[in-house]
Amino acid sequence: MAEKDAYQASKNYHEDVPPIKQTFHVKGMHHADWGLKDRLSRIFSPRSGRTVMLAFDHGYIMGSTTGLERLDLVIPELAPHADVFMATRGAIRTCVPPTFGKAIALRATAGSSILQDDVTDEVLAVDIEDAIRMNASCVAVQTFIGSKDEKSSIDSLNKAINAGNRYGIATLGVVAVGKQMERTARFFLLATRMLAEFGVHLVKTYYCEDFGKIVAACPVPIVIAGGKKLPEDEALTLAYRAVSDGAAGVDMGRNIFQAGDPAAMTQAIAKVVHENYTDKDAFGFYNDIRQKR
Ligand code: 5RP
Repeated sequence: MAEKDAYQASKNYHEDVPPIKQTFHVKGMHHADWGLKDRLSRIFSPRSGRTVMLAFDHGYIMGSTTGLERLDLVIPELAPHADVFMATRGAIRTCVPPTFGKAIALRATAGSSILQDDVTDEVLAVDIEDAIRMNASCVAVQTFIGSKDEKSSIDSLNKAINAGNRYGIATLGVVAVGKQMERTARFFLLATRMLAEFGVHLVKTYYCEDFGKIVAACPVPIVIAGGKKLPEDEALTLAYRAVSDGAAGVDMGRNIFQAGDPAAMTQAIAKVVHENYTDKDAFGFYNDIRQKR
């Protein structure tokens, strides 16, 4: 009888082998539950411990942006080289095939358009049930520390963390910098640590001087924002400096999709983030790909 044979064969208990020690590669998340760890492992590569997040959530505030006019054409080209899509539910549902198997960082706040002078007035716009339906690995919530809307953005962030904690969905706290707001190490030290203490699982912020101190003081991983378009070599230097100073990767938009060759740029960024390429080597790699086309 097949079942009996199988039962008799299962004798190899390796009593002399101690249990495998399991470690977890995401900073501050050793005590997280299994589902949350699974989602974080889709964001942060277990091999490198880092991530390449492709941000294309700009439309939620700017409408159609240069480089993102046709999401359905652009994103499939970049997808193979990114780990995570950071975008709105509308963009993902309409233009991104679910077959890509990418982690989703779902933009969950909204409130103003670029027609306003002040864009700090946002609310939590996405229910956790919809984030679950989207199979989001994390929800992204923008905070405006230091602005008149500081308190309401902190409230939205904490609501998202509470909801996410019920289901094991991580929260990405985004440190926004408004026109009136500082971009100093002192500010980023304050804002990143505040977000981590509220309970976010990862933080997105800008690279600045003394970045190593900011990383050291933040008990969860930090990914850096790309910001305004730079020449490609400078964007690679930004990524290189950030990971050298301890960033767990990048969450980059315009410096990828507005690059001369967005697909080559995504690959070059991935070389810096996952394979420790220097900025110089990555720029050489970028140019090689462009020449071969
Ligand atoms: C602002 C954001 C943006 O919506 C976006 O993701 C920024 O991407 P980039 O600056 O790299 O174009 O998160 O804080």
